[in-house]
Amino acid sequence: MEKIVIDGGVKLSGKVEISGMKNAAVAVIFATVAVNDVCVIENLPQISDVKLSLEMLRSIGARIKIVGKNAVEIDTRDLKNVAAPIAIARKMRASYYLAGASLARFGRTKVGLPGGCDFGSRPIDQHIKAFEALGAEVSIDGGYLEAETERGIHSANIFFDCVTVGATINTILASVLADGMTVIDNAAREPHVVDLANFLNYCGANITGAGTDVIKIKGVSRLHGCTYAIIPDMIEAGTFMAAAAATGGRLYINNIIPKHLEAITAKICEMGAEVEELDEAIIVSRKEPLCRANVKTLPYPGFPTDMNPQIAVLMCMANGVSQITETIWDGRFRYVDELRRMGAKIKVDGKQATIEGGENFSPANVRAVDLRAGAAMILAGLVCNGRTEIEDIHYIERGYDNIVSKLRLVGARIRKINIPDDIIESKSV
Ligand code: EPU
Repeated sequence: MEKIVIDGGVKLSGKVEISGMKNAAVAVIFATVAVNDVCVIENLPQISDVKLSLEMLRSIGARIKIVGKNAVEIDTRDLKNVAAPIAIARKMRASYYLAGASLARFGRTKVGLPGGCDFGSRPIDQHIKAFEALGAEVSIDGGYLEAETERGIHSANIFFDCVTVGATINTILASVLADGMTVIDNAAREPHVVDLANFLNYCGANITGAGTDVIKIKGVSRLHGCTYAIIPDMIEAGTFMAAAAATGGRLYINNIIPKHLEAITAKICEMGAEVEELDEAIIVSRKEPLCRANVKTLPYPGFPTDMNPQIAVLMCMANGVSQITETIWDGRFRYVDELRRMGAKIKVDGKQATIEGGENFSPANVRAVDLRAGAAMILAGLVCNGRTEIEDIHYIERGYDNIVSKLRLVGARIRKINIPDDIIESKSV
């Protein structure tokens, strides 16, 4: 088992390079199935969700070559539409994008039901509704999602009941080669939806409106390969912005798109940090004490749910009482118990957390209960005077590219240690 150990209390200072966005990378990797050609994908983050996505494609016959530090060539010409292994599918959420891409290419699919972080119920009814509208017969059996069409996918008008990133992306994928025009209403506007649409358009697709809540996909008869670079990860950038604000340091956060960070920038400025926007970078620093604020998570361009745990850490340090209202995930506040171990005063009532600020964190052994919860533990560890040890760091490695080395480069006293299995076994007897 590996742990992260942090000796906190250091103001971070220096330059951080932001990696490619996890949630765009996984969508684009699975989209190569619909492309049926050779694609080179650049600026891929080195994270386990990307490795799993590539492993899943390899298991169904894709040829994958590493062609640079963060680039792979994916050849999907000889793909077999065999059932994708359930064991890999359930380790991540994005595995269900294989369903949309396979439906487009083969008119049928069989994919293990997805896993991913546990935020309580994560229904896929909107994905199924869209696949059915596009002409597929869908069933869920033995842990698999199966969908079949008699004569391939046809176009449809789809109105989502809620704003969903996953179902928006799956519908774009499934309809990209359909006859006629598919229209998605109440579509998700997240930058990763736009990135996926841009990638497919580079490959010859005809998708308009991505980034708005009405997306139109005019089916094309075939796609062709291309070279495409994934956009920077706004949540990784937001996490480093929070790290600068939390430690009272100064970080030059490079390779970002400032527009994607507007909601995060506005909130941390309101809380007392200073933010300077450059073309492809942002400088975040803080000299004054943090002040209280309220946050409501919303689909893009609102404040992202994936920054809920990180902003909570700033609120624990702020003067006064802050509130977070979570509107996306029922189980988002699972990090609260872990922060309480470090002395945080947080009460949760349904969708709302009330945070009494002004306390210093105290050293503790904590767990990363999910990816962004793990990021919050790191932030709390960075400001805590004393040693914080974080277990279950495989969650963090699902979505943060080399976070330990990036933080060390800006002065953090943080390291990863390996605990031999026999020590863990003897402790648990
Ligand atoms: N929803 C439904 N039915 C559906 C699909 C979604 O009711 O068929 C609901 C969900 O229960 C939730 C809301 O719609 O309340 C939004 O879910 P969405 O489909 O947008 O989430 P997702 O696609 O499963 C992606 C990211 C998450 C991020 C959410 C929200 C990927 C691989 N994952 O999940 O990222 O929290 O959008 O922005 O893109 C993370 O990166 O840490 C992460 C969890």
